Amino acid sequence: MKTEHAVKDRYANAAKAQEPALCCPVDYDPQYLKAIPAEVIERDYGCGDPSKHVRPGETVLDLGSGTGKICFIASQVVGPGGRVIGVDMTEDMLEVARRNAPVVATNIGFANVEFRKGRIQDLALDLEVLDAELKKRPISDAASFLAADDLAEELRIKRPLVASDSVDVVVSNCVLNLVEAGTKPQLFQEIFRVLKVGGRAVISDIVSDEEVPLALQNDPELWSGCISGALTEEGFLQAFADAGFYGIEVLKFDMQPWRTVEGFEFRSMTIQAFKGKQGPCFERNQAVIYRGPFKEVLDDDGHRMERGIRYAVCDKTYNLYKKAPYAAFFEFIDPIEEIPHATAKPFDSARTSRRHPKETKGQKYNATTQTNSQCCDGGNCC
Ligand SMILES: C[S@@+](CC[C@H](N)C(=O)[O-])C[C@H]1O[C@@H](n2cnc3c(N)ncnc32)[C@H](O)[C@@H]1O
Repeated sequence: MKTEHAVKDRYANAAKAQEPALCCPVDYDPQYLKAIPAEVIERDYGCGDPSKHVRPGETVLDLGSGTGKICFIASQVVGPGGRVIGVDMTEDMLEVARRNAPVVATNIGFANVEFRKGRIQDLALDLEVLDAELKKRPISDAASFLAADDLAEELRIKRPLVASDSVDVVVSNCVLNLVEAGTKPQLFQEIFRVLKVGGRAVISDIVSDEEVPLALQNDPELWSGCISGALTEEGFLQAFADAGFYGIEVLKFDMQPWRTVEGFEFRSMTIQAFKGKQGPCFERNQAVIYRGPFKEVLDDDGHRMERGIRYAVCDKTYNLYKKAPYAAFFEFIDPIEEIPHATAKPFDSARTSRRHPKETKGQKYNATTQTNSQCCDGGNCC
C-alpha cells in the first residue's frame, strides 16, 4: 500500500496545480480540445492518445481518468449514441473532472460522461458506495473490520462499479504503471472482465527497455512519477496475453525515451488487445490461407500457418480472423455446402491442420465450367 499512498498524495496535489514533472507532451486532436476547459488540459498527465482509436456509438471506460481530458475527447468521438465512464481513486482528480463535465456537455450539446471512484485493479468495488455504507456501520473493532470485508465482497457482486461484459473499449493513458506490482495481474484480469466479447483495450503507458531493478521500484517518487512501476515492453504485452487477450498489437512506440534513469529507458507505447477468443470450436469445413508477407505466423491460440497454404480452422477461429486485427492477412474459403450451426460437430484438433480443397468442395465435386469472365481485371484472362 506504500506506493498507492504515494500515488494518491502526488495526484491529489497534481489535481490542484499543474506538476510539470508529470507531463509528457502529447499531440491531441485540436478539434476536440476546443470544448474542454483550460484547467483540465493544463493538468494533463498522459503519455499517449488512446482516444484516437474509439468509434462513434461505443461505450468507453477510461482507467485513471484524472481531470477527465481523455474522457472528454472520447465523449465527442463516440457522440450522443455512445457513453464514457472515467474511473479514478483520487478525490481531487474526480472533483475537477466532475465539475467540468457539465461545462463540456454544454459546449458539445450533449452529456454522455460520468466519473466513478474506484481502484482500477478492483473495478467491481464502488468506493463511494462502500464509503456510504461504512458511515452507517463504522469500523471500531476486529468484528466490524471483518464485516466490512464481507460488505465489500457483497457490493462487488450486487452493485459493481463496472459490470462484467459491459464495455466496448477500455482506454487508459499513463496509469497502469502506477498500480502496485502485486495487483498488476488482477488489473489485467479486471480489464478483461469488464469488456464485452469482441471488445478491445487500447492502452497508452510508459514501458521500460529492461527489467526495472528493485532499488528503483522501491523509490516512491520514481514510482508515482510513472517511471519505476513500468513493465518492460515485453512484459506489458505478455500481461495482456496472460489475461486471455488476443490480437495484441503495438500501435505506437516512441523511439525517443520520455526519461532515462541510471541507463534504463522509459518510453511511451500504445497497444491494442482484443477479448473474444474463448469458446467452443465447431467444424464447418472452412479454410483460411495466410497471405504473407512473413513465411509463417503463430496466433494466440497456437495455430502456426505458413504463407499460401490452406489450413483447416474451426468456425470460431474463422470468424475471429474475419475481423480486426486479422482480416487483411487472410483469404477465406467457405465450403460449397454449408454445414448448419445446429449440426456442426466439435472441431477435431487432432486432425491435420491442412484443409484439402476436396474438403471444402465436397468429395464428389467434379464440375467443369466455362471461363469466368469476372476472374481478371478487365475480364480477359488469356
Ligand atoms: C499519470 S495520471 C494520468 C491521468 C489521465 N489519464 C491523463 O491522461 O491525464 C494517473 C491518474 O491515475 C490515477 N490512479 C493511479 N493509480 C490508480 C489506481 N490504482 N486506481 C485508480 N486510479 C488510479 C491517479 O489518481 C491519476 O489521476
